[in-house]
Amino acid sequence: MTDTEILRANFLDELARSGTISDPEWQAAFRDVPREAFVPYYFTQRPGQPGWLLVERPRTEWLAGVYSARALITQIDGNDDNVTLARTGRVNGVATSSSSAPALMALMLQALDTHKGHGVLEIGTGTGYNTALLCHRLGSENVTSIDIDKSIVNRARERLATFDYFPHLETTDGTGGCPSRAPFDRIIATVGMARVPGAWIEQTALGGKILVPLDLAGRAGLLALLTVFEDGKAEGSFLPDFGGFMPIRANQHQANDVFSTVGDDDGYTRETTLHANLATNPADPFEFFAALIVGGYDWLGFIPSDGGPAETWLTQPNGSWVCHVTEANGKHAVRQGGPVRLWDGIETAYREWQELGQPARQRFGLTVRDGRHTVWLDQPEGPHRWGLV
Ligand SMILES: C[S@@+](CC[C@H](N)C(=O)[O-])C[C@H]1O[C@@H](n2cnc3c(N)ncnc32)[C@H](O)[C@@H]1O
Repeated sequence: MTDTEILRANFLDELARSGTISDPEWQAAFRDVPREAFVPYYFTQRPGQPGWLLVERPRTEWLAGVYSARALITQIDGNDDNVTLARTGRVNGVATSSSSAPALMALMLQALDTHKGHGVLEIGTGTGYNTALLCHRLGSENVTSIDIDKSIVNRARERLATFDYFPHLETTDGTGGCPSRAPFDRIIATVGMARVPGAWIEQTALGGKILVPLDLAGRAGLLALLTVFEDGKAEGSFLPDFGGFMPIRANQHQANDVFSTVGDDDGYTRETTLHANLATNPADPFEFFAALIVGGYDWLGFIPSDGGPAETWLTQPNGSWVCHVTEANGKHAVRQGGPVRLWDGIETAYREWQELGQPARQRFGLTVRDGRHTVWLDQPEGPHRWGLV
């Protein structure tokens, strides 16, 4: 076996072991479609160093990254010149396209529950790797994929053609779907959405499904699997897995300039019993609920130069902010300012989540009707419902 074959074999074993890819047809797709053909380069960051570096074939590091479990960033700031610039130094900017983490792709493709003859619309073509997996499973003629970025679509088209895959690709804003190819049996979004566009529901066949990652300003990572009903309602539960995706470009939130948000407001300080991690760590079982209840928020860690304790700052676009510190004695304090007391909201959400028995994300679901988004616990008409903030 060559080094590449060994890496690919380990990659497939790892996907099978993780349990995300038990369906033999999806296993075959991952086996037959090599990720390396769709990710000839990617950007990476070194811990503690600013900016992005380029890693590209034929380097050993490149291939190891391709066959790792990682999402790989393939575009910065929507500008392809950054690839050339990064060959000679670091570039700065926001990630605007990537090849998603393979285990996340696998679990989403499986959850999509596709069957022979199904027509599928993918939002966010990116590298074309996920499109290729869909073509392998369903045949190119049944696959439509759209992306807002023309050069991304063109590159994906070339890569897909080398495998004799000729799906319908279009450069267009994904929020409008692809009316010329509707109705679809399945819609899968590989980009984070604050809301489920009405066009997607209209373009899904009755009984068809929409799988969409909800992005609440970078928080929550909820994967909603919705079924479309006759009355134009789309409804279903969240998957048990965390599914964080980069936001759709219109919602691309820049790293928040915390200190301009705070301005001259000194804020109001008090003790709290909660650790900041509860609200900032996606692996914490409460984090998604905080974001659902108070709306999305950005956060960043900050180490003051005066030797004070590490600070965790949370901010919302409305200018509300929190500075959370944990003192050496283990006590926590928050200073908050702006129009809404954000930490008060997070504490209230935490109490509510405790009273509900700390339900996991898959006990929640979403109903979308006439643009209204309602999150519910256990059943759509049950007593616990919240409008999406
Ligand atoms: C995480 S990547 C998709 C990964 C891709 N499915 C793959 O396998 O490589 C997200 C993609 O969504 C695209 N995107 C962002 N905003 C969009 C929009 N408004 N409409 C359509 N695509 C959009 C980006 O250009 C990016 O290529």
